[in-house]
Amino acid sequence: MLFDSHAHYDNKRFNEDRLEAIKKAYDSGVMYILNASADMASSKATISLTKEFDFVYGAVGVHPHSAAEMTDEDIAKLEEFAKEDKIVAIGEIGLDYYYDFSPREQQKLWFAKQINLARKLNFPIIIHDRDAHKDVLDIVKAEQARDVGGVFHCYSGSVEMLRDVLENNFYISVGGTLTFKNAKKAVEVVEHVPLDRLLIETDCPYLTPEPHRGKRNDSSYVRLVAEKIAEIRGMSFEEVAEITTNNAKRLFRIK
Ligand code: NI
Repeated sequence: MLFDSHAHYDNKRFNEDRLEAIKKAYDSGVMYILNASADMASSKATISLTKEFDFVYGAVGVHPHSAAEMTDEDIAKLEEFAKEDKIVAIGEIGLDYYYDFSPREQQKLWFAKQINLARKLNFPIIIHDRDAHKDVLDIVKAEQARDVGGVFHCYSGSVEMLRDVLENNFYISVGGTLTFKNAKKAVEVVEHVPLDRLLIETDCPYLTPEPHRGKRNDSSYVRLVAEKIAEIRGMSFEEVAEITTNNAKRLFRIK
């Protein structure tokens, strides 16, 4: 039994075969999927997916790429969206200094405001942090995100930074990049992370693991991430699958 803690099935790259792709995931042993949102339209689409599929849960929120478009009205809408039955988190939210699609001041502002919303709702948050470790942690601390906790998705920080992440009540999630040849830092992190704070994900349709790199990603490939963790930690695949599934269920409060 596997839990893909971060997927984007509302993405247009699934427009041709969304139903089949999600069914394929289930048939491959993925018993839970958390669909993370990118913007307001994506948040709406996420709600629809949670209604369509028993095993799909959702997070609503606006990615830093779209931060510049956000308004306070959107925060109010997200609060409404969050009342839907299977919406269990706010995300993905954070900072992306690699692409800088939105001005950094806007990214920071709306990251903080969405953390605030999560605190009001008592929802965990799903953090996107690309080349912005210091500012992400500064905002996490300033906004007291530890009260709700959450997960650093596709964690790209160091082993040293991990201590700060754990102290602030966060899990980390690892995905397909762990299987890449240049994944030295990610392997080191997996060697050191406490097992009760580790989640797995695909971030599909992005970040396809080896040996399928270059193809579209889907949740059935989360198995390859679990297998890699098992190899690194000297555990069985079944143990990794069970532990990471239980961790995600605990974080997102899924019975
Ligand atoms: Ni994502």
